Amino acid sequence: METNQEKEYLRKLSADDWIREMKERAERGEFEPWVDLITVEDYRRTLEKYFGNLDVLAGKKYLDIGAGFGSKLHELLKQLGVEIMNIDIGLESVKFLKEKREDGVIGDVFKLPVQENGLDGAIAVNLINTGSAMDREDLEGIFKEIHRALKEKGHLIQSHFGYFVQPIPKDEQLAAVVAAGFKNIQLIQNQLTSKLAHLEPLAFIAEKAESK
Ligand SMILES: C[S@@+](CC[C@H](N)C(=O)[O-])C[C@H]1O[C@@H](n2cnc3c(N)ncnc32)[C@H](O)[C@@H]1O
Repeated sequence: METNQEKEYLRKLSADDWIREMKERAERGEFEPWVDLITVEDYRRTLEKYFGNLDVLAGKKYLDIGAGFGSKLHELLKQLGVEIMNIDIGLESVKFLKEKREDGVIGDVFKLPVQENGLDGAIAVNLINTGSAMDREDLEGIFKEIHRALKEKGHLIQSHFGYFVQPIPKDEQLAAVVAAGFKNIQLIQNQLTSKLAHLEPLAFIAEKAESK
């Protein structure tokens, strides 16, 4: 069950005013209640378990898909010296990030404006189930497109805790990730926080397989 604070938040938020509200929140240094429960240090601890020493990420090229106004995972990657390119379907988000001197382009996760096999990694924080990315029919299309953009052994880090409509069942999401060609899928939602279990979270790190 959602807390009263989350229920109230979801009730008053329609897809149309999301961008305006998030921009105002970002300017005030506030984010979504559930995202606030996961800190940069939570992400650091969790990524260390997977990658070991996080210095290996310095200089790597990552795409933040559905970057919005930045996330705690985004913040950590920046601290680690990762080169981040932001993609969002919303103009406001890209404008906001550019004002913060970040690279950003308007783009759709279904057709990423990047070449094949060029990226060391991609992050998607609360992208699935939101806005136009929540098209259930084409969930596999999203993961296939991200897979196309990654180098062999590149990583996709998904952290999905919020939802605006019905969450897509975890098993269905994971089946789409596997069907897209990812392997070594490690679930990380419980390592990040146990406080959001009622929101059916799905956070994982997955790797693009090497071609034989
Ligand atoms: C809930 S917000 C999360 C933003 C940010 N990642 C965060 O965690 O704060 C979802 C973002 O995905 C973007 N988005 C929705 N559909 C998209 C699509 N098809 N392609 C790219 N971005 C999309 C929205 O504009 C929005 O900025």
